Amino acid sequence: MQLTKGQIIEVEISSIAFGGKGIGKYNGITCFVDNTMPGDKVRASLTKIKSNFLEAQFVEMISPSKDRCEAKCKYFGTCGGCQLQSMPYENQLKLKEQQVKDAFERIGKIKNVNISKIIGSENIYYYRNKMEFSFGYDGEMKFALGMHLPNRRFDILDLHECHLESEFSARIVNKTRDFFVETGFEPFKYTDGSGFLKALYIREGKRTNEVMINLVTSDDLPKNAEKIMQNYADVLSSEDFKDEEKKITSVYWTMVIAKKGVPKTSKEFLLYGKKSLTEKMILENGNEMVFEILPQAFFQVNTFQAEVLYNQVVRMAVNKPQKTIFDLFCGTGTIGLFLSKYANQVYGIELVEDAVKVARENALKNKIFNIDFFTGDVDSLLKDIKEPPSLIVIDPPRIGITQKTAKLINDFSPNQLIYVSCNPSTLARDCAWLIEYGYKIKEVQPVDMFPHTYHIECVALLER
Ligand SMILES: C[S@@+](CC[C@H](N)C(=O)[O-])C[C@H]1O[C@@H](n2cnc3c(N)ncnc32)[C@H](O)[C@@H]1O
Repeated sequence: MQLTKGQIIEVEISSIAFGGKGIGKYNGITCFVDNTMPGDKVRASLTKIKSNFLEAQFVEMISPSKDRCEAKCKYFGTCGGCQLQSMPYENQLKLKEQQVKDAFERIGKIKNVNISKIIGSENIYYYRNKMEFSFGYDGEMKFALGMHLPNRRFDILDLHECHLESEFSARIVNKTRDFFVETGFEPFKYTDGSGFLKALYIREGKRTNEVMINLVTSDDLPKNAEKIMQNYADVLSSEDFKDEEKKITSVYWTMVIAKKGVPKTSKEFLLYGKKSLTEKMILENGNEMVFEILPQAFFQVNTFQAEVLYNQVVRMAVNKPQKTIFDLFCGTGTIGLFLSKYANQVYGIELVEDAVKVARENALKNKIFNIDFFTGDVDSLLKDIKEPPSLIVIDPPRIGITQKTAKLINDFSPNQLIYVSCNPSTLARDCAWLIEYGYKIKEVQPVDMFPHTYHIECVALLER
């Protein structure tokens, strides 16, 4: 029978794909359905029809999986932010561990990899130290501040609670909404470029309880914009906004300047408090580090689990005596800084200039002098370093490394490689390339940095 888009089909879900969609079969063809889990029997509407697979949108539950649990969040299923919240956490961990195994077997074509039990997160709610909330309109064109709705490009879910960052962060969202509704300022419209309010970023130092607010707007300034933005900062820094523990320590206003035919630029105004947010990380061996985080800088989003992740990196690195360590894709330098204690010299390479600036400041702040950072593309800069490393740490973005990077790494011939990855598929592919150069996978340690989402982080140790 000819299938058509929008046709309602019945599917029984048997597994979950990396990315979070449920997988079932319809007429023998693999079908991916959103918002489902193994054991669910659902009705779904076809959205993509290919000869070897189908995609469908969840419409109605016929019978739920016996493994389903009550989701904590009232927006679950609508928001799209925590796809796995209705799955007990233990099952989420099992699923992620299985997905790492599958990636090595199916994508890397590597058998019998030593994959350790995934390390779960102690906090499964309120674990994020950074959230972005967007201004816009809900489906009824009412002012909204919250999350972009999945599959609806411009509609915003007006969010009054969220269990990802903190109750304090939700209070800030609600106060911000009330404040700007009262001023009559309008959300930015991506359809025609009019309007002012774009996004609200809230960052929290989980170990310091400092909070940084960054309100992002367009340059289409409403009347009295400067004065009202200052009022906003005054409201947030007032007594009403002093939690017992947390404290707003910075309020920024970032204005995005868009002119036709010219690349976008932005201007930052510090309306209240400190220039940067201070966060601390404490590793198992008492190795403690302080980080100054600027509004646009990258920082690991789950502070406590990042400590767990870095503990694994250190554990693997101290297996062997180290002389020179390369920290490739180093961001703000965190991994290299923690490893500096165990090496004569560390070199970090990172593409983003601002991140390198922060990395250097972090080194100074923590009185670490045996680390140097280089700004640029890993492949280009590796060619210029002559000193052979005993260990290379690789922590690339989701797309992984290139075959050229694998070759350049091999040219240095380090005994040890530690690959930190946020994507098991590219990790498995890249490990297969490195195995061709004679490396062996000693261990893969999955770490759950993002409970209730499909994201998986792994640390792999390769040696020869
Ligand atoms: C997953 S982050 C790792 C950050 C850091 N290791 C940490 O734990 O905080 C990946 C980093 O790679 C950088 N990057 C992406 N492509 C790059 C390239 N071709 N050369 C150098 N750095 C790159 C990104 O800017 C980003 O900071």
